[in-house]
Amino acid sequence: MIEIGGNGRLWLLSGRRSSYALHLTDEDALLHLHWGPRLTVPDAEALAAEPLPAERGFESPLDGREEYPVEGGPRFVRPALSVRAAGVRGTEWRFQESAVSGDELRLRFHDPLHHLDITLHYRMRDDGDVIERWTTLTHTGTPDDAPLELLRADSAAWSLPAGERHRLSHLYGRWAAESRLARTDLTPGEKVIGSRRGHTSHQHLPWIAIDDGTATEESGEVHSCALAWSGSWRIAVQRLADGTVQTVGGAGHDEAGLLLLAPGESFTTPVFAGLWTQRGFGAASRGWHAWQLAHVIPGAHQERPVLYNSWEATEFEVSEEQQRSLARLAAGLGVELFVVDDGWFGSRTSDRAGLGDWTPNPDRFPQGLKPLADEVHGLGMRFGIWVEPEMVNADSDLYRAHPDWVQHHPGRTRTEFRNQLVLNLARPDVRAYLWERLDTLLSSAPIDYVKWDFNRSFTDPGWPGDPYPQRLGIEHVRGLYDLLGRLRAAHPGVAFESCSGGGGRIDLGILGLTDQVWTSDNTDPLDRLAIQHGFSQLHPARVMAAWVTDSPNVMGNQRTSGLGFRFVSAMAGVLGIGGDLTKWSEAELTEARDWVALYKRIRPVVQHGEQYRLRPPGGGGLSAVQYVRGEETVVLAWLHAQSYGEPQPPLRLRGLDPDSAYEDLATGTVHRGAVLSHHGLRTGLRGDLDAAVFHLRRTEQVG
Ligand code: DGJ
Repeated sequence: MIEIGGNGRLWLLSGRRSSYALHLTDEDALLHLHWGPRLTVPDAEALAAEPLPAERGFESPLDGREEYPVEGGPRFVRPALSVRAAGVRGTEWRFQESAVSGDELRLRFHDPLHHLDITLHYRMRDDGDVIERWTTLTHTGTPDDAPLELLRADSAAWSLPAGERHRLSHLYGRWAAESRLARTDLTPGEKVIGSRRGHTSHQHLPWIAIDDGTATEESGEVHSCALAWSGSWRIAVQRLADGTVQTVGGAGHDEAGLLLLAPGESFTTPVFAGLWTQRGFGAASRGWHAWQLAHVIPGAHQERPVLYNSWEATEFEVSEEQQRSLARLAAGLGVELFVVDDGWFGSRTSDRAGLGDWTPNPDRFPQGLKPLADEVHGLGMRFGIWVEPEMVNADSDLYRAHPDWVQHHPGRTRTEFRNQLVLNLARPDVRAYLWERLDTLLSSAPIDYVKWDFNRSFTDPGWPGDPYPQRLGIEHVRGLYDLLGRLRAAHPGVAFESCSGGGGRIDLGILGLTDQVWTSDNTDPLDRLAIQHGFSQLHPARVMAAWVTDSPNVMGNQRTSGLGFRFVSAMAGVLGIGGDLTKWSEAELTEARDWVALYKRIRPVVQHGEQYRLRPPGGGGLSAVQYVRGEETVVLAWLHAQSYGEPQPPLRLRGLDPDSAYEDLATGTVHRGAVLSHHGLRTGLRGDLDAAVFHLRRTEQVG
């Protein structure tokens, strides 16, 4: 809902439980008023009437209060917008108009010197508390006017009022150790997270949360923001000297220039979304999850199938017969989607060759992929393949034909990682090639699923011959989104997974075009608990792919763990199996079949329920996650190591009706809701690496 006050110069956006207010001063400064509990227009008008801090030398009354701080004028904070034209930098705007259409508010400003229109967009839907913000920049000049260089064009700035203390939560990591949660005090100055790698990165997910140091999972005010962009990005959080906090974020990592706008051209920034709650980190996550399920993830109401992926079993030693054997074993376990990973195409028998040549390897698949896909379908499963379209090996037919199609600087080394180079997707001919290849591939065999990988970062983002080569940072991502969008439209039955050497490209932008993501190449079930804990801060279980692999863990730390622990760890998201099934014993295969069957029973609750993090992993003890959907609740609990024979504390469940009874569907035991909520569920876990699943259903009112 959008309400207007203050003589048409104050806007109040309200969602389910929160409001966001801003107003224009007489000088056309656009100031932030409120981001918190619901307000009325008179409340917001009273706020707007409060005076700004008195003017003092060396201090700007605008800093920390503006909705979109531009470069220049009486400001010293990091600008959200930095524009240069004909050697002149900075922005001076006048307000032009406001417009409301549905739940979207648009505020348009104009800088006459630069012929620049700046439109700030806000959208807050009635069904939640996420505010989507983005900005459109348009060169309104004539063909004789100089182009506008967007040195920096952030999506939005978020302001928090002065507080004695602010604490920052964010997600950090590296390959095979992504999305781990860090929580530290914000001291005066700036904290910058981001990626200068051309993709979202394993190092940081584009999300932050700020509280006053006292919030818990269950209580306390939390402001959080997340950026919907899959290229290089930056979020800068500044605690100013007066105790206010301002956060700016957007595409690109620096101010070296994003794009050149010719007269008539526009740039629309990615969305930088924000969410406020006063019910703690858990409610913040549930708010983000619900919004993504309702408004971001395509077809989110559909359940994701249990998949099998052959990568850890075979790596590059792929053959049709071996894939058929794995498929038969997988089908026997109840797997619903069988995915052939890397190694099926071109001359791809190792990571040294073949990327770019998207036709089945004639020695490995002499009749193409169709016979295998048909067999997989005959076994009752869907069929998927792995691709890495944005890359090329130097040893490939594609690179031999088009060495100029990769990102490179003339006369400089073409840096290789994993023996591969990055195609320049900003080039229309590269995009046309990829579209033709992928469209043909998806038409050549009954393919239901594409795992889209991206296994190296940008290092030499040059584009010889282009007048403004650095635009490829933006254009690559736009090209990727365009390709994915076209493929989805042309092949509506195909689901897509975003992968980047595990979790190197997980963000709200890619999630608008993919059905699930590969969370991490680390499939160790214990390490995964921390990775999944971080992931769940922003993203829902419905997109979080997790595989059960072999023990000892072959890709990571060689840890030995029982099949039960591995399954319960992977059941916290979209369950997959990635082990070498030909080496699993009959007993293991039988046990696995039972776990898959159990997952299918709890899947609607896990994938579509509300998630409560009952106890975080780490510290060597008990951790647990609960999901609630309608009458059903699921608890997944893991014990790292038991010390001194101590029994584990009961888990106090959330989101239950204390006046109801809950039946454990495995044992028939009936629990009282009040007891589960106030005293807890006893897990009975003991020893090392123990785990359990509890599936409860509300049965009756307790007398
Ligand atoms: C990295 C992915 O994360 C793995 O799952 C696998 O697909 C390999 N690439 C294949 O090269």
